[in-house]
Amino acid sequence: MSLSTLSVQQEQNGLAVNVSSLRRRYGERTVINGLHLQIRRGEFVALLGESGCGKTTLLRALSGLDAIDGGRIEGPKQTAVVFQESRLIPWESLWRNVALGLHDRRGKPLALAALAEVGLGDRSEDWPRTLSGGQAQRVALARALVREPGLLLLDEPFAALDALTRLRMHALVRQLVARHRPGVLLVTHDVDEAIALADRVLIMRAGAIAGDYPVSHAAGGNRAHPEAQQLREHLLAELGVEAVE
Ligand SMILES: Nc1ncnc2c1ncn2[C@@H]1O[C@H](COP(=O)(O)OP(=O)(O)O)[C@@H](O)[C@H]1O
Ligand SMILES: [Mg+2]
Repeated sequence: MSLSTLSVQQEQNGLAVNVSSLRRRYGERTVINGLHLQIRRGEFVALLGESGCGKTTLLRALSGLDAIDGGRIEGPKQTAVVFQESRLIPWESLWRNVALGLHDRRGKPLALAALAEVGLGDRSEDWPRTLSGGQAQRVALARALVREPGLLLLDEPFAALDALTRLRMHALVRQLVARHRPGVLLVTHDVDEAIALADRVLIMRAGAIAGDYPVSHAAGGNRAHPEAQQLREHLLAELGVEAVE
């Protein structure tokens, strides 16, 4: 019943997180029950499931924000989370927001480099309120990646963005993940987003992982590809939604 760091052996085997028999309840209600999950370094996993099925609860447990009621989570030394809202501190400049919690003198140069990586290198002294929604999420990504996490947890980070900004964010996230190679768990309600970004799509149901679908290179790269269409229909059926043409 614990959250512990991966063993050297597990790290060497390329594991980013290892979850077994996880249980989490709120009062009498068990939200996660007997959940198993492994994500490898560099692997991009998307998690789909109907609203209220426990996705955020799972991410909070993986990030160590919440205690767990049973089972085991073995994770890397550094885990970072990005939520749907950027959660920036309004009275701190952007670079200070990114450097938050980096206590040594390298904090500022690391934060400036991370802001440059997300295309906001020239905004480091600005305030969060001067940013658009997409820019604020880019700062949140910079803040997550500046710690070089072994596991990156993304909880519907693009859900509040317009379609065009969302596509730009997809490209940026793909690029950042390719460069930093954390294990990624992305919660999304968008089946196409899951297929476009992930190596593997999981379905969460009844407190556990009920489906696990690899995404082929062909399907991930082209939403019109027959494999992508087939997977989309399959995932929508798993979610209890009829595909509409
Ligand atoms: N702090 C809390 N206290 C009590 N119940 C909660 C709390 N957080 C979430 N829940 C309940 O746990 C279930 C799962 O919530 P959540 O993980 O947020 O779902 P999802 O992210 O999949 O939409 C929901 O029924 C929700 O109402
Ligand atoms: Mg949620």
